Amino acid sequence: MNLAVIGLQFGDEGKGKIVDYLSESFDIVARYSGGSNAGHTVIYNGNKIHLHLIPSGIFQGKKCVLGSGMVIDMVQLMDEWSEVKEYGASGDILISTRAHIVTSLHKKMDALEDRKRNIGTTKRGIGPAYETKMKRIGIRVHELFDADAVAKKMRIMAEMWNMDVSVKEIQREAEEIHYAAKYFKSNIVDTEIWLNRAIDDGKTVLFEGSQGAMLDIDFGTYPYVTSAVTLPGGASTGLGIPPRFVHRVLGVIKAYSTRVGEGPFPTEIHGADAEKLRDAGGEYGATTGRPRRVGWMDLVLVRYSVMLSGADELALTKVDVLKGYDKIRVAVAYERDGKKMLYPPANIENCKPVYVEMNGWSDITDDAFRQFVELIERETKAKVKMVSYGREREKTMLFKK
Ligand code: IMP
Ligand code: MG
Repeated sequence: MNLAVIGLQFGDEGKGKIVDYLSESFDIVARYSGGSNAGHTVIYNGNKIHLHLIPSGIFQGKKCVLGSGMVIDMVQLMDEWSEVKEYGASGDILISTRAHIVTSLHKKMDALEDRKRNIGTTKRGIGPAYETKMKRIGIRVHELFDADAVAKKMRIMAEMWNMDVSVKEIQREAEEIHYAAKYFKSNIVDTEIWLNRAIDDGKTVLFEGSQGAMLDIDFGTYPYVTSAVTLPGGASTGLGIPPRFVHRVLGVIKAYSTRVGEGPFPTEIHGADAEKLRDAGGEYGATTGRPRRVGWMDLVLVRYSVMLSGADELALTKVDVLKGYDKIRVAVAYERDGKKMLYPPANIENCKPVYVEMNGWSDITDDAFRQFVELIERETKAKVKMVSYGREREKTMLFKK
């Protein structure tokens, strides 16, 4: 049985820990989209490690696939690889020959563009890398064994983007990327063939989503989204496996909401209350260190994400962060121009949340916590199967139902 684990909010739902926890019972962990904009936090031997490109199954000794739907910064991948090895990870990686790469030109373009239209991207070159892919001038992993060919393509990009970069600089970077590719030579394979065979042979796969459903290029809060498919359909297109191989979907939701970067956020809270929640939850970006915007749980968005993703099971995370609140709020509908909505419209700006106020809890055995879980299940029609109440693996509770 294969499982996709995806975030149902704006990313940072705590997928890293959930994937690390669950990957024990799978043979393979595969990422299908995004790049080093992701920041998946895993605790291993008491160390806190932020993974950006390598799937979170690496510390469970799994085969970890970086699929063709990803955009990969090869130089950063080398750094991350030596870091996880230093921490004692025993897993291995396989990199798709068809994945596109991110160069410094993409990162530069990302920063330039964002200064104009202010989405608040991670500046990891994600948008421009998907742009060159779709424009059919991108550089794929299989091409990296020829440094001159890489340099040539980079020169075309620099020209297209009107960038003032010297031929020498481009050549130097192309050599660096070429070196990284040679280093990973035995890890670079046609992962779609490898993965289909592995599944045919009875191996099981955990598909690790990155970002969250509300950052999906089509169904997120466009244009304040990432440039990739974050929904589980991307597991099929981004890994080259038939949709029927995605057997189940587990949606990860945090007990409250956060968002990094710009864009509408109906349940956002401000001021001292926001600071308190941000500090309690350690809500600072794993990739950029930016303070995250915080707010109450938004079941309008979660209800929609559950529908889009087909998540029938939920993992509810960071419930310990809300401990000790006298009252908490949960949005169950939106209101705009006198109209009540259960699902988000195409543009959620100026949507006012309709809140249910509930008692807080001091422990997950409290009645108030049970009521919170029941409200989520009632409103989304999905079952809460896992609850995470701390960073460590042990602080995970499984519901048998
Ligand atoms: P990009 O993916 O770097 O282009 O950023 C686009 C938007 O998605 C920005 O608002 C980012 O802050 C947000 N974003 C990208 N990756 C993540 C993530 O892994 N967690 C949370 N937000 C993210
Ligand atoms: Mg993150």
